[in-house]
Amino acid sequence: MIIVFLVLLVSDIFRVSEAKTSTSNQFYKISMVSSNNDPSHPALFSHGESPVWDAETQSLYFVDVHAQNVHRLDYKTGEISSKHIGYGKVNLVSLISGSRRLLVSVRSALYLLDWNVAGDAALRLLTNLDEGQPDNQINDGKADVEGRFWVGTKGPQTGDDVVADKATLYSVEQDSHTHARAHLRPVSVSNGIAFALNNSLMYYIDSPTQRIEAFDYDSQKGEISGRRTILDISAYGYEDAIPDGMTIDNKGHLWVALMFGGSVLHIDPDKRQVVYGYKLPVARTTSLCWGGPNLDELFVTTGQDPGTSENEHLAGALFTIRATGSRGVSTPMFRFDTADSY
Ligand SMILES: *[C@@H]1O[C@H](CO)[C@@H](O)[C@H](O)[C@H]1NC(C)=O
Repeated sequence: MIIVFLVLLVSDIFRVSEAKTSTSNQFYKISMVSSNNDPSHPALFSHGESPVWDAETQSLYFVDVHAQNVHRLDYKTGEISSKHIGYGKVNLVSLISGSRRLLVSVRSALYLLDWNVAGDAALRLLTNLDEGQPDNQINDGKADVEGRFWVGTKGPQTGDDVVADKATLYSVEQDSHTHARAHLRPVSVSNGIAFALNNSLMYYIDSPTQRIEAFDYDSQKGEISGRRTILDISAYGYEDAIPDGMTIDNKGHLWVALMFGGSVLHIDPDKRQVVYGYKLPVARTTSLCWGGPNLDELFVTTGQDPGTSENEHLAGALFTIRATGSRGVSTPMFRFDTADSY
């Protein structure tokens, strides 16, 4: 059992949906993962992102972007171990099919990371994206059912501001991994990829648009088309928030972390409606994934405001939301058959 510091509230403190739903009277639980050093306090990170559940080891990997760390939470013991990467912002960690190595991003490049190797040798360069745009960064990515890795970038960033229309959404395949294929350009802050359970759609977020979007998705050809809006969060009273990380549940519903909005939205994409909004006690809710032995705990990463020393005292904590009545599905991993010898 995970060590948990504090159980907050919660019943129905926050609803954005006008629709009556069966979930309106639920009692869910929001908790925080405690620190190794002091179990009575939550572990805090500067900018948590990219949580991914590893069913094989029952652990959660995630990154601390600014601190350039990859972290691993062992679910049973609650122990958090870390790997520091000293070469620039680390926005992404993901799993590789059949390998214990990890896929990580450093600035605008993708690497394989060997957790058990010390120093520089732990990283193997896979590919560089946004060549010629040295201030761009990889921002988020997900594998599809064929094992391709869909990965998007963001433009040069100063504080919370990102230069618009400088970035691209790509896919990377093992046979042509040094030549990522561009699918969508320009975008500003590529985020939140999820694939519909029947693999007919890709859901996508370019954060500054404030929209959750969908594309028709051809898994054989690895192509997307027919871009349309599923939901615009500004129509739900989130003028200042932007959608960030996204995941899907076993009913095909979407779960989206709202950066600057301190919330997680549960969305029915076919009805184009918010089912429920979960309020967290910090503004910078960055990303999320399902985890735990039954895939029914929603892990939510958060961040601190680097522009102020007066942060909310729980900013940067790793939260779990339990008893939502929903659960995840096992999602595909990047396929790279030579990962262990690469
Ligand atoms: C596949 O799933 C999507 C998302 O739930 C849905 O909109 C679409 O109708 C489904 N397609 C088929 C052929 O069932």
